[in-house]
Amino acid sequence: MSRRRVIAGNWKLNMSPVETRAYLEDFLPRVDAIPPESIAIFPPSISLTTARDALVNRSPIALGVQNLYWEQSGAFTGEISAPLAAAAGATLALVGHSERRHIFGETDSETARKVDAVVDAGMTAYLCVGETLEEREAGMAADVVSRQLGAVLDRDRRPPVDRLVIAYEPVWAIGTGRSATPDDAGQMHAKVRETLATVYGEQATSIPILYGGSVNPDNAEALLAASDVDGLLVGGASLEPGKFASICALIA
Ligand code: PGA
Repeated sequence: MSRRRVIAGNWKLNMSPVETRAYLEDFLPRVDAIPPESIAIFPPSISLTTARDALVNRSPIALGVQNLYWEQSGAFTGEISAPLAAAAGATLALVGHSERRHIFGETDSETARKVDAVVDAGMTAYLCVGETLEEREAGMAADVVSRQLGAVLDRDRRPPVDRLVIAYEPVWAIGTGRSATPDDAGQMHAKVRETLATVYGEQATSIPILYGGSVNPDNAEALLAASDVDGLLVGGASLEPGKFASICALIA
């Protein structure tokens, strides 16, 4: 079964609506030749509709939110829901990004509830998993990743296979300039693929597994060439249209 290759940009807490418009004006002509559906951008939610409007009649770049709350609506000041995100143009949502887990204390079970909300809204969940440096040094990296996956997958309810993308992002590689080696990434991706196969069987081969953590134009090609690496989730280097376009060009 073939699977999609995806280059995704996580803008984190950057890019106002005005900056988003300027970014896309610069970026879109650079990626005209990239196959449909293979680029995704996760702007801050306040810039989502600006991004959606800039993409009308343009290349089919998918948009997503970086986080959401599992309730659909109600007295939850400050939150956004999956239906609101979908109405604003998001078809994707990051869930369980390490900054959510480690800065905002998001638990595995909260991550699972968010994945459910994403699927219920007809969107695709980009489930982020990854170990800290301490966990890696203690030889626990695979166990941690497997626990994070299990919290979402080992339930009566699990996401349909076509609504799930996995992003392996070792915490020690995020924003540090120290990416995993292609071998390290390939080894963990193979383990993730095995775990997916225990849950989804044959269909697991269609789920894209992206690598994220200090991806840049210099290391992207080697990481993409590693086995079971189907794409990249790019933070810092996605903030510059030229840099991000050069990474996207690798899957043209
Ligand atoms: P980075 O971030 O590329 O800046 O390391 C990746 C991410 O957090 O998704």
